[in-house]
Amino acid sequence: MTIKVYFAAGRERWPEWEAPLRAAFAACDLAVSMSPEPPRDPARVDYIIFAPGGDIEDFTPYTRCKAVLNLWAGVEKIVGNPTLTQPLCRMVDPALTEGMVEYVTGHALRYHLEMHRHLQGQDGVWRSSELPPLARERPVAMLGIGALGAACGRALAGLGFPVMGWSRTPREIDGLVCHSGEDGLKAVLRKAGIVVTLLPDTPQTRNLINAERLALLPEGAYLINPGRGPLIDDNALLAALDSGRVAGATLDAFRTEPLPPDHPYWHHPRATVTPHIAAATRPQTASRIVAENIRRGEADQPFLHRVDRDRGY
Ligand SMILES: NC(=O)c1ccc[n+]([C@@H]2O[C@H](COP(=O)([O-])OP(=O)(O)OC[C@H]3O[C@@H](n4cnc5c(N)ncnc54)[C@H](OP(=O)(O)O)[C@@H]3O)[C@@H](O)[C@H]2O)c1
Repeated sequence: MTIKVYFAAGRERWPEWEAPLRAAFAACDLAVSMSPEPPRDPARVDYIIFAPGGDIEDFTPYTRCKAVLNLWAGVEKIVGNPTLTQPLCRMVDPALTEGMVEYVTGHALRYHLEMHRHLQGQDGVWRSSELPPLARERPVAMLGIGALGAACGRALAGLGFPVMGWSRTPREIDGLVCHSGEDGLKAVLRKAGIVVTLLPDTPQTRNLINAERLALLPEGAYLINPGRGPLIDDNALLAALDSGRVAGATLDAFRTEPLPPDHPYWHHPRATVTPHIAAATRPQTASRIVAENIRRGEADQPFLHRVDRDRGY
């Protein structure tokens, strides 16, 4: 029987997703009828492909839908929807992970090597007596060691950085020293030369990086936030950047996006703003994850990357 899929991820995304999705369905031997148009009879839809900005707000009429497949890794815009009773799966895509690893290692190395000093200090003075830093002398705190944080942590550990991971539940990851809980957070922040935040936006993680926690950091630490804007108390971070306790912050996600042109982050000499480009979901690779989840749904196998609605991620 033909599987009915509603592409509810925004019509503007349909042109780039249609062909890779159809190819991925064919590769999984799935007979699919898929459309970006709201269905005349929602009760006949088997799967919904979702991204924020699409047409669905009320999932109640989709009574036969076996899963809502989110194209993004973050689910904060849908997880609290009270009409959503169907299983929700988020995106874990190898190319998205690769992109995040490149972003995080790139910015970590930029700070570690203090490239800004050389880029901005071409003043004719030959300072050859300054000892260049070594990664093994700069501990990194990886806050969030899920699909993305663990991959970034392993990459940084591979470069020689001592990487401390922090998560909600205790974890063991080769090459990382892992912590959890409030005491674990304090322990990693006290030692961190670079803090990377790869946590989901949930009620428990909002404003995690606040004045009190920033005060635990060694003087001159760096922050990289490719996670979500609400993880950071912006006023506290701006104060820490002003004082120099935080020597530099690279921020990719914000409470309001696009970040308004008059936001102080744009103009702060110690802040780098990137426009939510740390890692993108790529249709070619992500379509295979969507198809695999539909294949699983049809074979009565557990879905990949299912969101725990109570945890919020
Ligand atoms: N900027 C971008 O381009 C971009 C792209 C993709 C994703 N992201 C962001 O990156 C986030 C992480 O993605 P992911 O795929 O790595 O997610 P994930 O696999 O779900 O991992 C989340 C990690 O955060 C930890 N965590 C959650 N709540 C916590 C809490 N209250 N206290 C301590 N740790 C907590 C989890 O702990 P446990 O291990 O104990 O569960 C886990 O280690 C996404 O939610 C999204 O916001 C950004």
